[in-house]
Amino acid sequence: MNEKKVLRVGILGFGTVGQGTWKHLVENEKAWERILGVQLIPTRASVRSLSKKRAFAIDPTCITTDSLSIVEDPDIDIVCELIGGIEEAKKLTLRAFSMGKSVITANKALICDHGDELFKAAETAGVRYAFEASVAGGIPIIKVLRESLVANEFPLIYGIMNGTSNYILTRMENEGATFDDVLGDARELGYVEADEALDLDGVDAAHKAVILGYLAHGMWIDLKDTTVEGIRRISNEDLAAARDLNCKIKLIGVIRRSFEQNYVSVGVYPALVPINEIIAQTDGVFNGISLTGTVVGTVVLTGRGAGQDPTAGSVISDIVDVVKGMQGSALPPKLLHVTPDECKPAPSQEISGCFYLRLSVDDRPGKLAKVAENLAVHGISLATVSQTPDEKSESASIILTTHQTNEHSIGLAIDSLEQLDGVKEKPVLFRMFDPNCYKEE
Ligand code: HSE
Repeated sequence: MNEKKVLRVGILGFGTVGQGTWKHLVENEKAWERILGVQLIPTRASVRSLSKKRAFAIDPTCITTDSLSIVEDPDIDIVCELIGGIEEAKKLTLRAFSMGKSVITANKALICDHGDELFKAAETAGVRYAFEASVAGGIPIIKVLRESLVANEFPLIYGIMNGTSNYILTRMENEGATFDDVLGDARELGYVEADEALDLDGVDAAHKAVILGYLAHGMWIDLKDTTVEGIRRISNEDLAAARDLNCKIKLIGVIRRSFEQNYVSVGVYPALVPINEIIAQTDGVFNGISLTGTVVGTVVLTGRGAGQDPTAGSVISDIVDVVKGMQGSALPPKLLHVTPDECKPAPSQEISGCFYLRLSVDDRPGKLAKVAENLAVHGISLATVSQTPDEKSESASIILTTHQTNEHSIGLAIDSLEQLDGVKEKPVLFRMFDPNCYKEE
């Protein structure tokens, strides 16, 4: 058990979250001492550039460009890895473990790519690898899933896991603004990741969904085995059509588990979510995650999924847990690991649902019939159809919804529709999210 009266925190990466963590550690130092019986002192931070102006200034002697020197500093007891990226972050994390130091991280990409190795390394070293801030910023989803709801299995977890894309969709929906205009504003507000594809193409949300899938089911789903689609093809016309169907289009991560067949599926995609779902009403930069457990029923958490203060709050919650662990308090339950016999990634034939399609076609007789025929060949039946002609371009926009089918059949149908004479571009396809989809058939 650790008897120290002072514990020093090293922060790797002094960006938005790193500065927030330092600030809150200092501002509430009395509270940490009262709760933990030790002083928690942010002591050193690493940056890429010493000359860069930072909103939150600290004593320059605490700052270095050498992250490794912080990890290896014998005075530093706890390391926060907030630099992001993969290779350097992984090396620093493993080095900290080998020195007997617990690491707190917000790095979802690293966990998604190397979580198995890192969790095993932490366990072998007898330290903690804590990652509350990696999913949904300030929402305490990791602790809820791993500890509070431990009595449950989870047939369905779904929700909004990327604040930037939700901000863009909400403004398009509420103001009729175009994707490009709102993206410009999101950039100015500093919401969009430096690598924009992470937010706009669903990759950031997919990292988070994979982590939740692992926590719930003990299985790392490879991103290559998942559907990952972003928001770039959503038009104002789609948002209006969704409204007519009593839905809103949201970028959602969906983790489904079939206990009958022992399949897990993870996907991130734009979906039409029924308007009465809390997730459909979760707007702006907020995130929302709905967990359906076998014991509790459905629990929904919404809140700030990004930003300095909420995310720093999650980092500090992990620091507090790490300190309690060092003082001898019980650790959270061990992470699950299942074997391939126990659970497998679901094949696309086994992932079923209804779909929304928008096609731009030449406005000539028989085109709609051809589209319907093509879908029927793949065993797909239509639920609704609407067509809007555009006289200027002599084309028509056809919006269809399907009855229940599966991912495999719709994939084949889309490929063949794209080849159909008179279809002008690859059809737009969104899933129609059914909150009752977890019920075994
Ligand atoms: N780019 C992420 C988002 C930040 O917009 O949600 C938080 O992970």
